Amino acid sequence: MRIARSFAELRSFLPAFRPHPLCLVPTMGALHEGHGALVDRGRSEGGFVAVSIFVNPLQFGPTEDLGRYPRTPEKDIEFLEKKGADLVFLPSPEEIVPRDATITVNPGPVGALYCGASRPGHFEGVLTIVLKLFHLFGPDLAIFGEKDRQQLFLIQKMARDLALPVRVIGHPTIRESDGLALSSRNRYLNTEERRRATLFPHHLTTTKRRWEETPPLTSEELDSLRTDLEGKLSREGFVVDYVAFVDPDTFREATLPLPRRVILLAAVFLGKTRLIDNVVIEADLSRV
Ligand code: PAF
Repeated sequence: MRIARSFAELRSFLPAFRPHPLCLVPTMGALHEGHGALVDRGRSEGGFVAVSIFVNPLQFGPTEDLGRYPRTPEKDIEFLEKKGADLVFLPSPEEIVPRDATITVNPGPVGALYCGASRPGHFEGVLTIVLKLFHLFGPDLAIFGEKDRQQLFLIQKMARDLALPVRVIGHPTIRESDGLALSSRNRYLNTEERRRATLFPHHLTTTKRRWEETPPLTSEELDSLRTDLEGKLSREGFVVDYVAFVDPDTFREATLPLPRRVILLAAVFLGKTRLIDNVVIEADLSRV
């Protein structure tokens, strides 16, 4: 596996991978099996797999966890070596985010909703760095986890809106045996919080089942599904950031008549840790 730590090194390695297809898996490191699944998916798509590791300061707010975000580069390199990645890129912050940089990517209106409402500037930071990585690698394919569903939507939209020559695909969320979505931030949870965290995906799934058995037909029924879920999460000790039923085509809140497919998207705090997750609801509307 090649290891590049500068633009010059990256440029010197890339020609060896051509003319084969190149797949890029952008990450912030502290790698786990969720990232491993993205590398496996890249391999299964054919061609070479490159992984970038960079804790992007542009996507953290001033009061967020940039300083304590886990950084485990040596372990990550070992992990990727075992996974069979072909190239890893660990740029320095100074090179990838020049001090005098002023041009950024505007994520548009959807960037201000849900996670973007609680984390102003977050998606601008994500898209800016992802666009840079796309320029640096020129990948044919880029893979992102579906846990960050809004991020995936916005990156796919950026690729379409700006005619970027890259196919952006999502890969299903990898979960612990008790249902908790894998995340580098799970390591912030103490034992009691970790035990409780399983209730987050559990309640999303029960809401999904309830919807699929009896799809809501009125705005009152839709509101009651949302408030029931928020109530259950609050009673279990989560502080609800948002719960939203989202139309996957527009990423706006789903409205009546509801589409057949809806994404239940949510973010909660457990102690100081912010968890996000989502489930896809597929309702058979012909029965209603
Ligand atoms: O999902 C992440 O790890 C980050 O948001 C990304 C896409 C690597 C951009 O910094």
